[in-house]
Amino acid sequence: MKKLDVKCYWENVYHTKEFAQMSWYQKVPTDSLIFFQKMAIPKNARIIDVGGGDSYLVDYLLTTGYRNVSVLDIASKALEKAQKRLGQWADRVTWINADINLYQPTQTYDVWHDRATFHFLLEEGLVHRYVEQTRRALSTDGLLFIGTFSEKGQAHCSGLPVRQYAKEKLAEVFQPYFQEMDSFNTDHFTPSGKVQSYSFCTLRKKTE
Ligand SMILES: C[S@@+](CC[C@H](N)C(=O)[O-])C[C@H]1O[C@@H](n2cnc3c(N)ncnc32)[C@H](O)[C@@H]1O
Repeated sequence: MKKLDVKCYWENVYHTKEFAQMSWYQKVPTDSLIFFQKMAIPKNARIIDVGGGDSYLVDYLLTTGYRNVSVLDIASKALEKAQKRLGQWADRVTWINADINLYQPTQTYDVWHDRATFHFLLEEGLVHRYVEQTRRALSTDGLLFIGTFSEKGQAHCSGLPVRQYAKEKLAEVFQPYFQEMDSFNTDHFTPSGKVQSYSFCTLRKKTE
């Protein structure tokens, strides 16, 4: 079978659909915002949203005073849409158009946020590389907030196969370098009314 061109796939998704039609759409990224509040993330924290797409998280972060936010996505169209929405505020964000599997961070971050991107990594080698990336890119005591489909969730997301993780399993994957602070399951309601079960974990980088 021909290997999927992942970039092309996602560019096409963002070219052909509006955000509010996408299954992962959230008007308010509540779980993520609760994480920022609960962990009392300082306003000068260096934050990266990996696979941030067209998410409103960046809007909320900016309006609540965060001033060091980066959004990374493989689809330039997703970033373009977010930039257009933000208007002048877009200049306050660092936009990174890259494949997380190839990306070499040029700085360290205090917070790594990923909702529904890590679960697309199917090969063991890519999962391992992602874990190594988070270790290298996060500062001492840095926090990782990560969400995937749960073991009760769907086997596909946006038409692509995903790995489903029980919350305990998700924490275990990062366990060599991270200590689990919190984990929970939550139901997400898609715009068409379907329920998707997610696992979320908050993990703190262990002192090396
Ligand atoms: C299910 S969407 C989630 C978007 C966003 N995190 C949210 O919660 O609204 C997955 C996102 O990951 C991006 N993505 C998929 N594979 C990627 C990769 N290898 N590197 C970077 N971004 C990727 C897609 O373009 C898409 O924006």
